[in-house]
Amino acid sequence: MERYSEVEIRGYIDRANKLLEKSYCPYSKYRVASIMIDTDGNIHEGVNVENASYGLTVCAERNTIAAAVTKGMKKIDMIAITGDTPNPISPCGMCRQVIREFSKKDTLIVLATSKSDKYIIWTMDEMIPYSFGPEDLDK
Ligand code: THU
Repeated sequence: MERYSEVEIRGYIDRANKLLEKSYCPYSKYRVASIMIDTDGNIHEGVNVENASYGLTVCAERNTIAAAVTKGMKKIDMIAITGDTPNPISPCGMCRQVIREFSKKDTLIVLATSKSDKYIIWTMDEMIPYSFGPEDLDK
């Protein structure tokens, strides 16, 4: 990978895996965490936060992005998402679109798991081909 070395990627995954313990998921018991680097080099993090009124649950990726925007994040350079899942986690469709809102063409999405060293790296275009985003409204 060009912008991030293998060691750096693994470092961010390790950090995200450690963050899994903060996940608030008493209902699903499905822990998710993400670490994000913005284009200014700042680091942001978040976990999924569930609610007794199940539909109010907010995924880790959207919590991370909301916290980052509050701190002035403009674009995502890389987001590493992990879960205590048998395989690298698959981000839900809603989170993919929210990541898209703040992505560049070459934003990297790293999918990982705390259960093994396996991970997957996608560019934004690989995650959502021919995606809809802010530029589409510039008619
Ligand atoms: N979840 C995430 O945090 N991110 C995703 O992309 C998929 C799902 C959370 C939401 C809920 O707390 C749990 O995983 C099970 O759906």
